Amino acid sequence: FFGLPHQAPHERVLIAADAESGLRTMIAVHSTARGPAFGGCRLWAYENDLAAHHDALRLSQGMSMKNALAGLPFGGGKAVIVKPKGEFDRAKLFAAFARAVDSLQGAYITAEDVGTTTADMRGVQALTKYVSGIPREGAFGGDPSPKTAWGVFVSIEAGAKTVLGRSDLQGLKVAIQGLGAVGWHLAEFLHKAGAQLVVADIDPAKTAKAQAQFGAEVVTVDQILAAPCDVLAPCALGASLNATSIPTLQAKLICGAANNQLALPHDGDELAKRGITYLPDYLVNAGGIISVAREYRGEGEEGAVMAEVSRIAERVNELLVRIKTSGRTPAAEADAWAQSLLVKP
Ligand code: NAI
Repeated sequence: FFGLPHQAPHERVLIAADAESGLRTMIAVHSTARGPAFGGCRLWAYENDLAAHHDALRLSQGMSMKNALAGLPFGGGKAVIVKPKGEFDRAKLFAAFARAVDSLQGAYITAEDVGTTTADMRGVQALTKYVSGIPREGAFGGDPSPKTAWGVFVSIEAGAKTVLGRSDLQGLKVAIQGLGAVGWHLAEFLHKAGAQLVVADIDPAKTAKAQAQFGAEVVTVDQILAAPCDVLAPCALGASLNATSIPTLQAKLICGAANNQLALPHDGDELAKRGITYLPDYLVNAGGIISVAREYRGEGEEGAVMAEVSRIAERVNELLVRIKTSGRTPAAEADAWAQSLLVKP
């Protein structure tokens, strides 16, 4: 598949359909070397099944890298559901999805991602135990997005210090593409730390709220990537860093939550050629998977999970040290680092 960063074959891909609910799902298990494949489920209006399949393959591979770098005892997997056209019964759709997950007997564990919610995962939980990201009575759990945003925030802090020579984020200009579940929390953290925000979202209600609440400058979705700023935080969908956008970027540092930000592997080289430091998505956006993984193992506790997420900054620092000796780009270095960890912990 064109655009996959590595030739590493996936262990297993389940393609399942259910006529009654309209479910069409692809569950990609990239690697179980470190443990069961763990990664969220995306519900998206894909153009066709091939596009969905490609997304599942790319995202699941990214999850292997993310889980390995985060030191989690899990492999990488991801599910995508092709959003049915027209009206559909959400409960039935996720019930059918749960049966597909359950059929893998624990090789894959699901959670929420773009287009899916904690309520959907609660429905899934009724039919399979291989699910996380659910508010749990008297125990740690729930929406992973604030944890993802916190991991991105501490990574921006680390990058701003080493790459931009900033001791704090006061006045730092950060452009956020996408004010969804993660982007919004990130905006809150950055605003609190004194950063200046430039934002864009296809939903004008979200940008208006950011303008009112954080004094954010609002630009259009076509302007955000090239907006004058110190840091660019892609927090919408993948492939935003590509042959068209890279020549126009003004940021010196890129650090955001979106999965698969590089359209093609060599886009990491193009960023480096332009003197832009790209902190790889799967390194900085691991806060959510850390949260759902701890929840799944029944080990979670808010303070401890936040401390574990904060340690993403240490890995960012280590990456920035490693590239000095290896001479690789951050993307290539993180790939090599993660690949070396795709073994049983
Ligand atoms: P979301 O669906 O809540 O938010 C995405 C936001 O981006 C929405 O507000 C949407 O309107 C906006 N958007 C879409 N296209 C846009 C465009 N062209 N320009 C500007 N805004 C646009 O999703 P969520 O959960 O915030 O995730 C964001 C990204 O982070 C996704 O790529 C996701 O895979 C990734 N991610 C999320 C994690 C989580 O814990 N939620 C964990 C790790 C990665």
